[in-house]
Amino acid sequence: MSDYDTLIAMAKQARENAHANFSNFKVGAALRSASGKIFGGCNVENATYGLTVCAERIAIFKAISEGERRFDAIAVVTDTDALTPPCGACRQLIWEFCGDVPVVMANLKGAIEVLRMRELFPKPFDSSNL
Ligand code: THU
Repeated sequence: MSDYDTLIAMAKQARENAHANFSNFKVGAALRSASGKIFGGCNVENATYGLTVCAERIAIFKAISEGERRFDAIAVVTDTDALTPPCGACRQLIWEFCGDVPVVMANLKGAIEVLRMRELFPKPFDSSNL
């Protein structure tokens, strides 16, 4: 059993709640805090499309709003053969709130790829630039 199995399972479970009635593209995320607590998230769409919030950001906001500040991994699960990396907006927030964490991308068939945020987001803008 890999270190990421529970995280992936939680992201799959969160995906079940995806509110993706416009794209039909269901995404689940799970974010693990340094204390070991896992926060799930799913994408939530609405009729304006533009106000959609991705699964990753829901997981981050849930964790932050519960007082968590340190994280060690995030998983993203979709039902596609090509694994889904976080979108640009999510990369920004994962970087700012979680730093150089491993991003575990997985699908429902058991494929897994792990990339660190440094690889996915090589030249970030963050508070060190202000
Ligand atoms: N989406 C996510 O939730 N996370 C990603 O990493 C990629 C995209 C959502 C947004 C939208 O609800 C749907 O997937 C299609 O873009």
